[in-house]
Amino acid sequence: MYDWLLGGIDNYKADRDACQILLEIAPSTKALAVNNRAFLRRVVKVLAQEYGIRQFLDHGSGLPTRDNVHEVAQRVATDARVVYVDNDPIVLAHGRTRLVENDRTAIVQADMRDTDGIFRHSDVTRLIRRDEPTAALFVSVTHCLKDHEVQPMIDAVKERLAPGSFMVICQLVSEHEKVREDVTALMADATGGNWGRVREEDDVRGYLRGLDIIEPGLRDVTDWRPDREVHPRQHVDDWVEWGGVGRLP
Ligand SMILES: C[S@@+](CC[C@H](N)C(=O)[O-])C[C@H]1O[C@@H](n2cnc3c(N)ncnc32)[C@H](O)[C@@H]1O
Repeated sequence: MYDWLLGGIDNYKADRDACQILLEIAPSTKALAVNNRAFLRRVVKVLAQEYGIRQFLDHGSGLPTRDNVHEVAQRVATDARVVYVDNDPIVLAHGRTRLVENDRTAIVQADMRDTDGIFRHSDVTRLIRRDEPTAALFVSVTHCLKDHEVQPMIDAVKERLAPGSFMVICQLVSEHEKVREDVTALMADATGGNWGRVREEDDVRGYLRGLDIIEPGLRDVTDWRPDREVHPRQHVDDWVEWGGVGRLP
Protein backbone atom coordinates (compact mmCIF):
# COMPACT_ATOMS: atom_id res chain seq x y z
CA MET A 1 0.00 0.00 0.00
CA TYR A 2 2.83 2.36 0.92
CA ASP A 3 4.52 1.68 -2.41
CA TRP A 4 1.37 2.63 -4.31
CA LEU A 5 0.97 5.77 -2.22
CA LEU A 6 4.55 6.73 -3.13
CA GLY A 7 3.80 6.27 -6.83
CA GLY A 8 5.64 2.94 -7.10
CA ILE A 9 4.82 -0.08 -9.27
CA ASP A 10 5.52 -2.90 -6.79
CA ASN A 11 1.94 -3.31 -5.60
CA TYR A 12 -1.14 -5.45 -6.14
CA LYS A 13 -4.84 -4.87 -6.78
CA ALA A 14 -5.66 -5.65 -3.15
CA ASP A 15 -3.19 -2.91 -2.05
CA ARG A 16 -4.68 -0.39 -4.47
CA ASP A 17 -8.24 -1.21 -3.45
CA ALA A 18 -7.38 -0.77 0.23
CA CYS A 19 -5.64 2.53 -0.60
CA GLN A 20 -8.78 3.85 -2.30
CA ILE A 21 -10.75 3.26 0.90
CA LEU A 22 -7.92 4.76 2.93
CA LEU A 23 -7.97 7.91 0.81
CA GLU A 24 -11.68 8.30 1.49
CA ILE A 25 -11.04 8.19 5.25
CA ALA A 26 -7.84 10.25 5.16
CA PRO A 27 -7.47 12.17 1.87
CA SER A 28 -3.99 13.49 2.68
CA THR A 29 -2.44 10.03 2.74
CA LYS A 30 -0.47 10.27 -0.51
CA ALA A 31 1.16 13.54 0.57
CA LEU A 32 1.76 12.00 3.97
CA ALA A 33 3.65 9.06 2.43
CA VAL A 34 5.77 11.30 0.19
CA ASN A 35 6.56 13.63 3.09
CA ASN A 36 7.43 10.72 5.34
CA ARG A 37 9.90 9.39 2.80
CA ALA A 38 11.41 12.88 2.42
CA PHE A 39 11.82 13.04 6.22
CA LEU A 40 13.68 9.72 6.13
CA ARG A 41 16.11 11.10 3.57
CA ARG A 42 16.64 14.32 5.53
CA VAL A 43 17.15 12.66 8.87
CA VAL A 44 19.73 10.20 7.48
CA LYS A 45 21.59 13.05 5.81
CA VAL A 46 21.56 15.16 8.99
CA LEU A 47 22.75 12.27 11.17
CA ALA A 48 25.54 11.37 8.75
CA GLN A 49 26.62 14.92 7.96
CA GLU A 50 26.15 16.80 11.23
CA TYR A 51 26.48 14.04 13.82
CA GLY A 52 29.02 11.83 12.05
CA ILE A 53 26.90 8.68 12.20
CA ARG A 54 28.36 5.92 10.04
CA GLN A 55 26.06 2.99 10.84
CA PHE A 56 22.32 2.72 10.34
CA LEU A 57 19.92 -0.05 11.32
CA ASP A 58 16.68 0.51 9.43
CA HIS A 59 13.76 -1.40 10.98
CA GLY A 60 10.85 -1.99 8.59
CA SER A 61 12.80 -0.52 5.68
CA GLY A 62 10.11 -1.06 3.04
CA LEU A 63 10.44 -1.53 -0.70
CA PRO A 64 13.34 0.17 -2.42
CA THR A 65 12.49 3.59 -3.78
CA ARG A 66 14.40 6.69 -4.81
CA ASP A 67 17.27 7.66 -2.50
CA ASN A 68 17.29 4.78 -0.09
CA VAL A 69 19.06 5.04 3.27
CA HIS A 70 22.40 3.64 2.08
CA GLU A 71 22.44 5.97 -0.93
CA VAL A 72 21.85 9.05 1.22
CA ALA A 73 24.32 7.97 3.92
CA GLN A 74 27.04 6.80 1.51
CA ARG A 75 26.75 10.02 -0.48
CA VAL A 76 27.80 11.83 2.71
CA ALA A 77 30.41 9.23 3.66
CA THR A 78 31.30 6.30 1.41
CA ASP A 79 32.24 4.21 4.45
CA ALA A 80 28.73 4.46 5.96
CA ARG A 81 27.18 1.04 6.71
CA VAL A 82 23.49 0.23 6.50
CA VAL A 83 21.49 -2.85 7.48
CA TYR A 84 17.90 -2.96 6.32
CA VAL A 85 15.47 -5.16 8.26
CA ASP A 86 12.03 -6.17 7.04
CA ASN A 87 9.81 -9.22 7.44
CA ASP A 88 8.03 -8.94 4.09
CA PRO A 89 9.43 -11.47 1.58
CA ILE A 90 8.61 -9.14 -1.33
CA VAL A 91 10.64 -6.37 0.28
CA LEU A 92 13.48 -8.85 0.72
CA ALA A 93 13.33 -10.06 -2.89
CA HIS A 94 13.45 -6.51 -4.29
CA GLY A 95 15.86 -5.34 -1.61
CA ARG A 96 18.46 -8.00 -2.38
CA THR A 97 18.73 -6.81 -5.97
CA ARG A 98 18.10 -3.08 -5.56
CA LEU A 99 19.45 -2.21 -2.11
CA VAL A 100 22.48 -4.39 -1.56
CA GLU A 101 24.77 -2.55 -3.94
CA ASN A 102 28.04 -2.92 -2.04
CA ASP A 103 29.61 -4.73 0.91
CA ARG A 104 28.64 -1.92 3.28
CA THR A 105 24.94 -2.60 2.82
CA ALA A 106 22.85 -5.64 3.76
CA ILE A 107 19.21 -6.62 4.04
CA VAL A 108 18.04 -9.03 6.71
CA GLN A 109 14.72 -10.81 6.78
CA ALA A 110 13.56 -10.56 10.37
CA ASP A 111 10.71 -9.48 12.52
CA MET A 112 11.71 -6.14 14.01
CA ARG A 113 10.38 -7.34 17.38
CA ASP A 114 13.13 -9.97 17.44
CA THR A 115 15.88 -7.61 18.58
CA ASP A 116 18.02 -10.44 19.92
CA GLY A 117 17.91 -12.32 16.62
CA ILE A 118 18.60 -9.15 14.65
CA PHE A 119 21.66 -8.20 16.68
CA ARG A 120 23.02 -11.76 16.42
CA HIS A 121 22.55 -11.90 12.62
CA SER A 122 25.87 -12.22 10.81
CA ASP A 123 25.24 -9.14 8.62
CA VAL A 124 24.44 -7.06 11.69
CA THR A 125 27.53 -8.19 13.60
CA ARG A 126 29.58 -7.54 10.46
CA LEU A 127 28.30 -4.04 9.75
CA ILE A 128 27.07 -2.60 13.06
CA ARG A 129 29.91 -2.10 15.54
CA ARG A 130 28.56 -2.30 19.05
CA ASP A 131 31.03 0.24 20.45
CA GLU A 132 30.19 2.92 17.88
CA PRO A 133 27.06 5.12 17.81
CA THR A 134 24.30 3.81 15.56
CA ALA A 135 21.17 5.40 14.17
CA ALA A 136 18.31 2.95 14.77
CA LEU A 137 15.50 3.89 12.42
CA PHE A 138 11.84 3.16 13.14
CA VAL A 139 10.29 5.33 10.45
CA SER A 140 6.59 4.77 9.90
CA VAL A 141 6.65 1.33 11.47
CA THR A 142 5.58 1.38 15.13
CA HIS A 143 1.91 1.70 14.12
CA CYS A 144 2.30 -1.79 12.61
CA LEU A 145 2.76 -3.22 16.14
CA LYS A 146 0.35 -3.79 19.01
CA ASP A 147 0.49 -1.41 21.98
CA HIS A 148 2.30 -3.85 24.26
CA GLU A 149 4.98 -4.61 21.65
CA VAL A 150 6.38 -1.19 20.87
CA GLN A 151 8.11 -0.07 24.07
CA PRO A 152 9.79 -3.43 24.79
CA MET A 153 11.22 -3.43 21.26
CA ILE A 154 12.53 0.13 21.62
CA ASP A 155 14.03 -0.61 25.04
CA ALA A 156 15.69 -3.79 23.76
CA VAL A 157 17.34 -1.87 20.91
CA LYS A 158 18.42 0.96 23.22
CA GLU A 159 20.11 -1.54 25.54
CA ARG A 160 22.26 -2.76 22.68
CA LEU A 161 23.38 0.60 21.31
CA ALA A 162 26.51 2.51 22.20
CA PRO A 163 26.21 5.84 24.09
CA GLY A 164 25.52 8.71 21.71
CA SER A 165 23.40 6.54 19.41
CA PHE A 166 20.18 7.87 17.92
CA MET A 167 16.64 6.53 17.84
CA VAL A 168 14.57 7.88 14.95
CA ILE A 169 10.88 7.21 15.52
CA CYS A 170 7.77 8.44 13.80
CA GLN A 171 4.38 6.89 13.33
CA LEU A 172 0.87 7.63 12.16
CA VAL A 173 -1.02 9.79 14.63
CA SER A 174 -4.32 11.59 14.46
CA GLU A 175 -6.12 13.98 16.75
CA HIS A 176 -9.40 12.71 15.39
CA GLU A 177 -10.82 9.69 17.13
CA LYS A 178 -12.86 8.72 14.09
CA VAL A 179 -9.81 8.71 11.80
CA ARG A 180 -7.89 6.65 14.36
CA GLU A 181 -10.69 4.12 14.63
CA ASP A 182 -11.58 3.92 10.93
CA VAL A 183 -8.01 3.58 9.68
CA THR A 184 -7.10 1.09 12.39
CA ALA A 185 -10.15 -1.01 11.43
CA LEU A 186 -9.32 -0.81 7.71
CA MET A 187 -5.71 -1.81 8.27
CA ALA A 188 -6.67 -4.64 10.62
CA ASP A 189 -8.92 -5.92 7.86
CA ALA A 190 -6.31 -5.47 5.10
CA THR A 191 -3.61 -7.27 7.11
CA GLY A 192 -5.67 -10.03 8.70
CA GLY A 193 -5.34 -8.38 12.11
CA ASN A 194 -1.57 -8.10 11.77
CA TRP A 195 -1.36 -4.38 12.45
CA GLY A 196 -1.22 -2.03 15.42
CA ARG A 197 -2.98 1.25 15.75
CA VAL A 198 -3.08 4.88 14.68
CA ARG A 199 -2.03 6.57 17.90
CA GLU A 200 -1.65 10.03 19.47
CA GLU A 201 1.34 12.34 19.84
CA ASP A 202 1.74 11.44 23.51
CA ASP A 203 2.34 7.80 22.64
CA VAL A 204 5.29 8.77 20.47
CA ARG A 205 6.62 11.13 23.17
CA GLY A 206 6.56 8.14 25.50
CA TYR A 207 8.66 5.99 23.15
CA LEU A 208 11.43 8.59 23.21
CA ARG A 209 11.24 9.46 26.91
CA GLY A 210 14.62 9.66 28.62
CA LEU A 211 16.48 10.54 25.43
CA ASP A 212 17.83 13.96 24.44
CA ILE A 213 15.53 15.07 21.66
CA ILE A 214 17.53 16.83 18.99
CA GLU A 215 16.35 20.02 17.29
CA PRO A 216 13.74 20.79 16.11
CA GLY A 217 12.01 18.41 18.52
CA LEU A 218 9.05 16.12 17.98
CA ARG A 219 6.50 17.16 15.38
CA ASP A 220 4.77 16.38 12.11
CA VAL A 221 7.82 15.06 10.27
CA THR A 222 6.96 17.21 7.24
CA ASP A 223 8.20 20.11 9.37
CA TRP A 224 11.31 18.38 10.69
CA ARG A 225 14.10 20.50 9.20
CA PRO A 226 12.34 20.93 5.85
CA ASP A 227 14.72 21.59 2.99
CA ARG A 228 14.18 23.02 -0.44
CA GLU A 229 13.04 19.70 -1.81
CA VAL A 230 9.61 20.27 -3.29
CA HIS A 231 7.06 18.13 -1.55
CA PRO A 232 3.32 18.60 -1.47
CA ARG A 233 1.93 19.88 1.78
CA GLN A 234 -0.96 18.16 3.47
CA HIS A 235 -3.99 20.34 3.13
CA VAL A 236 -6.08 18.56 5.70
CA ASP A 237 -5.08 17.60 9.20
CA ASP A 238 -6.69 14.16 9.12
CA TRP A 239 -3.51 12.40 10.19
CA VAL A 240 0.25 12.90 10.15
CA GLU A 241 3.49 11.02 10.58
CA TRP A 242 4.65 12.40 13.91
CA GLY A 243 7.95 11.98 15.72
CA GLY A 244 11.60 12.92 15.62
CA VAL A 245 15.02 11.94 16.89
CA GLY A 246 16.28 11.10 20.37
CA ARG A 247 19.91 10.67 21.36
CA LEU A 248 21.06 8.19 23.97
CA PRO A 249 23.07 9.81 26.75
C1 LIG B 1 5.04 2.03 5.86
S1 LIG B 1 6.41 1.00 5.48
C2 LIG B 1 7.73 2.06 6.01
C3 LIG B 1 8.96 1.93 5.14
C4 LIG B 1 10.11 2.88 5.48
N1 LIG B 1 10.52 2.73 6.86
C5 LIG B 1 9.73 4.31 5.21
O1 LIG B 1 9.40 5.04 6.16
O2 LIG B 1 9.74 4.72 4.05
C6 LIG B 1 6.36 -0.23 6.79
C7 LIG B 1 7.33 -1.39 6.60
O3 LIG B 1 7.45 -2.08 7.84
C8 LIG B 1 7.52 -3.47 7.56
N2 LIG B 1 7.08 -4.18 8.77
C9 LIG B 1 5.85 -4.18 9.36
N3 LIG B 1 5.84 -4.95 10.45
C10 LIG B 1 7.09 -5.46 10.56
C11 LIG B 1 7.72 -6.33 11.50
N4 LIG B 1 7.04 -6.84 12.54
N5 LIG B 1 9.02 -6.63 11.33
C12 LIG B 1 9.72 -6.14 10.27
N6 LIG B 1 9.18 -5.31 9.35
C13 LIG B 1 7.90 -4.97 9.49
C14 LIG B 1 6.59 -3.66 6.37
O4 LIG B 1 6.89 -4.86 5.68
C15 LIG B 1 6.88 -2.41 5.57
O5 LIG B 1 7.93 -2.66 4.65
